[in-house]
Amino acid sequence: AKRWKGLIEEYREWLPVTEDTPKLTLHEGNTPLIRLDHLSRLWDIDLYVKTEGTNPTGSFKDRGMVMAVAKAKEEGKSALICASTGNTSASAAAYGARAGMRTVVVIPEGRIALGKLAQAKMYGAEILAIEGNFDEALRMVRETAGDEIALVNSVNPYRLEGQKTIAFETIEQLGKVPDVFALPVGNAGNISAAWKGFKEYSDRRQSDRPQLLGVQAAGAAPIVNGAPVPDPDTVATAIRIGNPASWELAEAALAESDGNILAVTDEEILDAYKLLAETEGVFAEPASCATIAGIRKQLEEGGLKRGATVVGVLTGNGLKDPDTAISVNEGQAPITQEEFEVFIGALNPEEA
Ligand code: F0G
Repeated sequence: AKRWKGLIEEYREWLPVTEDTPKLTLHEGNTPLIRLDHLSRLWDIDLYVKTEGTNPTGSFKDRGMVMAVAKAKEEGKSALICASTGNTSASAAAYGARAGMRTVVVIPEGRIALGKLAQAKMYGAEILAIEGNFDEALRMVRETAGDEIALVNSVNPYRLEGQKTIAFETIEQLGKVPDVFALPVGNAGNISAAWKGFKEYSDRRQSDRPQLLGVQAAGAAPIVNGAPVPDPDTVATAIRIGNPASWELAEAALAESDGNILAVTDEEILDAYKLLAETEGVFAEPASCATIAGIRKQLEEGGLKRGATVVGVLTGNGLKDPDTAISVNEGQAPITQEEFEVFIGALNPEEA
């Protein structure tokens, strides 16, 4: 079997890579495309998920970060900075450590999932927590880039270059272009990157293009509402964003693909979160499950044809946010030996 070499090596011909680009990798990319057999049957579509939570730091951000950090290193920069709802900071910190660069992350105090904070700490990032939200953190870091510091939010064009590879991988793994490609929308970089990938692929290989389905959380749905949200709120903290930086790119991608963007409530997100884990064995963080809730809503509204091939992106690993996982399930008191035997007896009734 061939050993996967990581994004920069594997997709060299599609990326802005030169002789001088460092061969940086944590072997990101090549994430599984899993068919959801139960939900496909239930919803009468052919449904797959791209499990981006299997990337080295547990989210899709690694695809863009490897590219942004390699280019920052190539340009002679010594430090990275980003604003983040958590995953970008974890990814920047990991690739910064790998590349021997300082990493500074600016995060909304108290609103980042526990696993993501643990990652940024372990990779040795300098963490600056602010009282404001992600939009304010991004505003603060936007003017900081210079000769020494690279801004690695998705306003950095190399981030979108790396992230566009999800389109190539999806087509290769599925053996065709899906009818619909669905993903959660926060700062709107990833939907813009995916569309760039599908367009480039169709230009070079004369293939079709999918329709995009963007999904926002109802409490943080500026694109769906058509206006910035000053105080965004949702259980899906990864996409708790009220004024996305790539708003215009995302609108263009949605229009060009004849796609749709819709909002789902926190309740719908958490229902999808449990349904996915319990019926398919796939555990993704809440923001990722907005994708599944969005596909369900699109179906209910008559926006998906029977038998359509749908790929949903599960952007981050479920382990990122253990607090939400615990809180949506009932707590249990410890049991005695006797209670244990009663429980097992009920599983084996004929032997009782
Ligand atoms: N899903 C997850 C798990 C995310 O972490 C993000 C963004 C998105 C979806 C939305 O992607 O911003 O490109 O539209 N997280 C950023 C961060 C904002 O700081 O980690 P987007």
